[in-house]
Amino acid sequence: MSRIVYVNGDYLPEEDARISVFDRGFLFADGVYEVSSVLNGRLIDNEGHLVRLRRSLNELNMPAPASDADIEEIQNELIKRNNVEEGGVYLQVTRGAADRDFLYPKNAKPSLVLFTQARSVIDNPKAKTGMSVILLEDIRWRRRDIKTVGLLAQSMAKQAAFEAGADDAWMHQDGFITEGSSNNAYIVKDGTIITRHLSNDILHGITRKAVLALAKETGMPIEERAFTPDEAKDADEAFVTSASTFVMPVVKIDGSDIGTGTPGPIATRLRTLYIEEALNSIKD
Ligand code: PDD
Repeated sequence: MSRIVYVNGDYLPEEDARISVFDRGFLFADGVYEVSSVLNGRLIDNEGHLVRLRRSLNELNMPAPASDADIEEIQNELIKRNNVEEGGVYLQVTRGAADRDFLYPKNAKPSLVLFTQARSVIDNPKAKTGMSVILLEDIRWRRRDIKTVGLLAQSMAKQAAFEAGADDAWMHQDGFITEGSSNNAYIVKDGTIITRHLSNDILHGITRKAVLALAKETGMPIEERAFTPDEAKDADEAFVTSASTFVMPVVKIDGSDIGTGTPGPIATRLRTLYIEEALNSIKD
């Protein structure tokens, strides 16, 4: 069934939506994006996503295409027009169309594209069984804190995981795990949650922030530091967080079972807490 998508001011059936071949998102991956999740037809943690969008735009000296309020209105309009109960809204801003030149164009108008994806987030079957990941070298650029559409390394990592019979990849650099292909990575050892500290080496996940706040409120000990692949394989539990998976247990790393090889109690509890809080945040 055709969706209605948003492109630079217009709501259109997806097959009628057009972007220029000169769009710098297409030519240079000169664009940034956000994915906000939707539960019961309402946006979750959207303010955090819009704050990070603004930061990504600032880091690249890219003008904002619209105010946060206008962007949120478009997100909600698409949710309504496409009857999305559960899933996500993707939004992308690029520097716009200009003749190909490495220098930033002076007067390009940023392009704004949004579309919805309907799918179950809460009843994701992987939440019950847990995911398997493989470890791969992190070959990405050094500004992973900017959420750019330059995702080829992540796409290669995910494809390699799929071809190896796994669900996802955790990437490592200089002997330490950075993050998952499209999520933040965590291990649990002796009751302590360990996840890499914030820097330019990883994306500053909006779900990470919310989940760490919940863990803290519940009195779970947290260490924000880099951890090694060996620590990960030897952990009692592992999990990932993202807007599209919330909290998702990881039960196998490079073929080794983590803990009992089933979703651990801390990951399971954090998933429940996150979903409860998300649903609470949209209660009228
Ligand atoms: N990915 N790290 C990377 C590399 C990511 O791509 C993502 C999100 C995250 C988690 O961030 P957040 O909690 O704000 O979603 C961490 C999105 C979901 C995607 O690309 O589809």
